[in-house]
Amino acid sequence: MRFDVVTLFPDMFAVVRDLGVTGRAHTQGLWALHAWNPRDYTHDAHRTVDDRPYGGGPGMVMMAGPLSDAVDAAQRSRAATEPSPAPVILLSPTGPRFDQARAQSLAAGAGAVLICGRYEGVDQRFIDRQVIEEISLGDFVLSGGELAAMAIIDATVRLMPGVLNDDESAIQDSFNPALSGLLDSPHYTRPEVYQGTPVPAPLLSGHHARIARWRREQSLRLTATRRPDLIVRARAQGWLTAEDERFLQTLVDGDLSAPTRG
Ligand SMILES: C[S@@+](CC[C@H](N)C(=O)[O-])C[C@H]1O[C@@H](n2cnc3c(N)ncnc32)[C@H](O)[C@@H]1O
Repeated sequence: MRFDVVTLFPDMFAVVRDLGVTGRAHTQGLWALHAWNPRDYTHDAHRTVDDRPYGGGPGMVMMAGPLSDAVDAAQRSRAATEPSPAPVILLSPTGPRFDQARAQSLAAGAGAVLICGRYEGVDQRFIDRQVIEEISLGDFVLSGGELAAMAIIDATVRLMPGVLNDDESAIQDSFNPALSGLLDSPHYTRPEVYQGTPVPAPLLSGHHARIARWRREQSLRLTATRRPDLIVRARAQGWLTAEDERFLQTLVDGDLSAPTRG
């Protein structure tokens, strides 16, 4: 797996390259990171990468030329090391929102060339010629695409085989098909009683089936309360059992919000 990032701020990527789960996986050689700075593909003394927008208005726009040359350099370098091509993705608030399904499909591929915009955005002619996909991190505007690119790298790399050990397994995470695409259940650790609040009894029972059922019901409750759209999707996919449906019906009949103490 190889990620190439086209960015005016390559140093920002030290966070995913060097720290935490992604840092460990990078050290183990499970993924590689290459940064390409559009300033290195300019031809003037000031290394200009932006200019005023045609039509007027505030801010500056990233020029097509340096971005395009940086992407070409990244693609040439990739061709020398990677057996299969990777999508050129622009981080942009105008793209479809990133989700766990896209992280999973990226994790099954060869990586990506991630373009990080700055200023008011990038010249549309660059997008039309070089970009195959746009991805948004959410309905808000960042100062640049770097944080969005790092979020995508993190979410993708942790899904690669061998990156997480069993204790950290992504299988039980929110949105995972193994969890029927539901939200994760609450977690507890020591002490058994914290400021007068005990750990829910099923988790202390040592009874695996009871613990699994309690976790499933907490997932169903949380998802029904916060993300009913995910319940609808799980139902449409046939991921909910008759027991799940009976529990969901008790939520409709009763109080959705109260956590089950067990
Ligand atoms: C200040 S933003 C430009 C916003 C643009 N004028 C707009 O309103 O859609 C600069 C860059 O940050 C990145 N960016 C901002 N918000 C983002 C988001 N929600 N998801 C992904 N990238 C984002 C994009 O690369 C964008 O080109």
